[in-house]
Amino acid sequence: MNVSADLVSDVAEVLLSEEQIAAKVAELGARISKEYEGRELTLVSVLKGSLPFMADLMRRITIPVRIDLMEVSSYGGTATESSGLVRILKDLSAPIEGRDVLIVEDIIDTGLTLNYLMRYLRGKNPRSIRVCALLDKPARRLVELDIDYIGFEIPDEFVVGYGLDFGEIYRNLRFVGVLRPEAYES
Ligand code: PRP
Repeated sequence: MNVSADLVSDVAEVLLSEEQIAAKVAELGARISKEYEGRELTLVSVLKGSLPFMADLMRRITIPVRIDLMEVSSYGGTATESSGLVRILKDLSAPIEGRDVLIVEDIIDTGLTLNYLMRYLRGKNPRSIRVCALLDKPARRLVELDIDYIGFEIPDEFVVGYGLDFGEIYRNLRFVGVLRPEAYES
């Protein structure tokens, strides 16, 4: 891996600017607040990629929310391809039985991670379970999924920033950008 000292030089193109992301997150937060009005929501962030999205989205939601964090990792795949096998590195810290749950994801790619997570969390008997993903890459989908809230549909390009990594780097970029091939081919 060949990471430039100033990260931004490794980005070929800004796909979603900081301003575009902020506007979309505000819109999603308003929709969620309206649709769950009068209820209490449990936001389940799927680490690590969803960390900035979760932090921004929760502050755009005006109804009472609880938050919980899960960390999962796919294994057996490569840095750019997921394998479909999911391992739970950190589980929920509180029961979700009878609660309205919203899974907060940064990106849905093949859909394998979310497919696994939905089945796992449904087994804990929540009152309802829905999904909010900032990015959706439908071209890569391997399993059919209903995603209730989607920020942006993006093309099948390798994206980093706003939580998304390559080799654990680039998560702290404030925008979503397409990585230069030189950065991941080396
Ligand atoms: C990313 C993302 C989703 C998953 C989507 O996580 O946050 O959880 O991949 O891919 P899929 O639809 O093909 O299953 P990743 O495993 O890269 O971990 P990270 O969030 O810690 O970066």
